[in-house]
Amino acid sequence: MVRPYAVKGRRKRPKREVEEVIEEQEVEEVNEEEENRGEVEEMEKEGEGSQDAVADEMVGLPVVARPIDDARKQKGVIFVLEKASLEVGKVGKNFQILNSDDHANYLRKQNRNPADYRPDIIHQALLAIFDSPLTKAGRLQAVYVKTEKGVLFEIKPYVRMPRTFKRFCGLMSQLLQKLSITAVGKREKLLNVIKNPVSRYLPLNSRKIGLSYSAERSVNLFDYVAAASDDINLVFVVGAMAHGMIDKENMEDFISICNYPLSAACCLNRICSALEQKWNIR
Ligand SMILES: C[S@@+](CC[C@H](N)C(=O)[O-])C[C@H]1O[C@@H](n2cnc3c(N)ncnc32)[C@H](O)[C@@H]1O
Repeated sequence: MVRPYAVKGRRKRPKREVEEVIEEQEVEEVNEEEENRGEVEEMEKEGEGSQDAVADEMVGLPVVARPIDDARKQKGVIFVLEKASLEVGKVGKNFQILNSDDHANYLRKQNRNPADYRPDIIHQALLAIFDSPLTKAGRLQAVYVKTEKGVLFEIKPYVRMPRTFKRFCGLMSQLLQKLSITAVGKREKLLNVIKNPVSRYLPLNSRKIGLSYSAERSVNLFDYVAAASDDINLVFVVGAMAHGMIDKENMEDFISICNYPLSAACCLNRICSALEQKWNIR
């Protein structure tokens, strides 16, 4: 069962319309891949169509089934994704999340380096988390994203991320302009811009573990995670930017998990796999 979402302040849909939307989404879920293929083809035809228009057309951001009580009582993991490239710019008449492929000329005219505008990194990172068996087993506690500009937002663990990049950008553009996105008919915010610093939302007894290729301490992640006490709340901090590294300050640990520089998504896949092994998730 899936539910649609709405941006705060939007017109409430009549009940019949909501039912139709839910029905549409159920069909959408069954045939998601085929639908996405069609969607991509349509977007290609549209060329650089407005992300706002795409977001407006979105019938809803579904949520997955929430964990049952047993899973909620079990230990979970928190992810903090730092320095995400999510900046809204006014391109023509529309507000869009800026990216190096579609907005290179626009960025150059403003003396900005297009290579710094990579929202695809945070999209892939979030898909790595939300698609993992760990999340499906209800062990994802929270995800916090901090943008390059310092905007912090929370994503609820049961949100189903838009799979296409254009839809993702549409959602992020709406979030950064309206500051929250709620499920239709519910007051709960599925995505919500919150005040810094992230430490005020972390549970007691949290251990913030920063990841960087340049960290001095190199670990075998599977052994590292297996050795962590279940009394501690694990918080993994991973960079979602193209260049540079995350801040080492305020980390209880700062580790390298591989002899090669990895993408954020690959790092997150590894963390999820290590936790799945630790918690016997198959
Ligand atoms: C695209 S990388 C950013 C590259 C940046 N030079 C760095 O190493 O921090 C994205 C993120 O993945 C993580 N990462 C990449 N390779 C890693 C490695 N070998 N060990 C630990 N973390 C890594 C870091 O958190 C990094 O910020």
